[in-house]
Amino acid sequence: MLSWCPPSFRARRTTATAVVAAAVCLAVSVLFLLYTGNHAAEGAQARVTDAWDRVVPLIREGPLPAILTRGKVEAIQVVNAQRRVIASTPELAGRPAIGSFMAPSGHVRAMRTLCPPAGLKGCMTVVAYKVFQPPGVWLLYIAVPIPPWYGSTSALLLAIGVSVLATTMMTAWSFRDLTKAMAPVNAIRAELREITATDLGRRVPVPMRYEEIRRLAETVNDTLDRLESAYTRLRRFTADASHDLRTPITGMRAQLEEALRYPWDTDWLKMTEAVLAGVELLQATAADLLTLAQLDAGAPLHHDPTDLRLLVSAELDRRTHQKEIVKDLRESVCVDCDRLRITRLLANLLDNAERHASSRITVSVRADGSSAVMEVADDGAGIAAEHREMVFDRFTRLDASRNRDAGGTGLGLAIAREIAEAHQGALTIEDSERGARFVLRLPARDAGPEARTR
Ligand SMILES: Nc1ncnc2c1ncn2[C@@H]1O[C@H](COP(=O)(O)OP(=O)(O)O)[C@@H](O)[C@H]1O
Ligand SMILES: [Mg+2]
Repeated sequence: MLSWCPPSFRARRTTATAVVAAAVCLAVSVLFLLYTGNHAAEGAQARVTDAWDRVVPLIREGPLPAILTRGKVEAIQVVNAQRRVIASTPELAGRPAIGSFMAPSGHVRAMRTLCPPAGLKGCMTVVAYKVFQPPGVWLLYIAVPIPPWYGSTSALLLAIGVSVLATTMMTAWSFRDLTKAMAPVNAIRAELREITATDLGRRVPVPMRYEEIRRLAETVNDTLDRLESAYTRLRRFTADASHDLRTPITGMRAQLEEALRYPWDTDWLKMTEAVLAGVELLQATAADLLTLAQLDAGAPLHHDPTDLRLLVSAELDRRTHQKEIVKDLRESVCVDCDRLRITRLLANLLDNAERHASSRITVSVRADGSSAVMEVADDGAGIAAEHREMVFDRFTRLDASRNRDAGGTGLGLAIAREIAEAHQGALTIEDSERGARFVLRLPARDAGPEARTR
């Protein structure tokens, strides 16, 4: 089935310009032609008056010739008191009177439009004058052609010609201008069509001339920048993810093959524990990847009014600790948050701190202006300033951690930061005297009676 394609912007604008130009030309032409028509009617009247000026003295003073000259009018007839034609222009010679009307008493002039067979060629305006010629009233008929409403054919042709020319010029100008304005848009479209997922480095041309199109091109290029960096991150993430999933699988496979090859020399209990550790790592990685995918997809958060102090305290009470925990939870601070997610963030920080602390972990909650601040600090080796942003990247594990513990997924801090940002907050690593100090800032809300933990 053929689908209807709406006309292009250029076609619509050009058509609209043509219609408006034609309408304006038509209106101006009509006014012009009405003016020339009026002028022609006045000219006809002036010619009738001239003829009257010429013939009336001949009637009054005599002798009145039987054949009169036409002058600038079409025909003249003089009818005497007995209603006999006594003088006329040559074409009416010997013909009866062209009319029988006259002005009513008290008036000297009457006017009619007479058509054949009144003795005239075509319809004419005939003016009848009363001429008092004692003892009776004579009639002088003067005929002039009826001027058309547009005055003359040449005026009509002029109006049509100028209108057609003006409309054509306006339409052509509009078409040319739009074609020029649309050229950068077409260039942008052509370039965008060429850009594919593997070729995201290309950018659309930015025209210098048209402000709106320039801004459109700049916005498209900004969007392409973001797409490119998102795609690069996604590619790196996929590569890292497959690497981090393959490593434990390869390890487990090697252990299982070894065990099958030398079944009698294998410590099955130890081997099973090792494989189980690999499976747990895979499970943790898969769970973290799923969490990240949900956060990336912008899955909606629950925004429950929560006392951060109570939430932290509950999580610390729930966990078992290998290190000494110092709580600084004197201040209540209320936030709107997804409690499960913030608990997950805290758990990730505490897991890391347990792994890296020498002996002590300090957890504090406080208000700082319009922010609620939660800190998790430990007394371990800390994180060098140059690594403090890097550790939030996905699958980033510093060498020290790899050596210390192979069980981490390298996704914990990435998830924690995503959760903080999804709450319009921030998670950073700040200076401390010793060890690492993770600081979470969330927008605080006014404490209300409904603020509570789970
Ligand atoms: N408290 C800490 N002290 C020192 N280094 C840390 C601490 N927390 C995180 N790191 C470093 O940041 C890296 C990334 O942490 P994370 O994303 O939680 O992954 P994982 O814990 O699985 O290694 C860790 O591998 C470690 O090198
Ligand atoms: Mg971790």
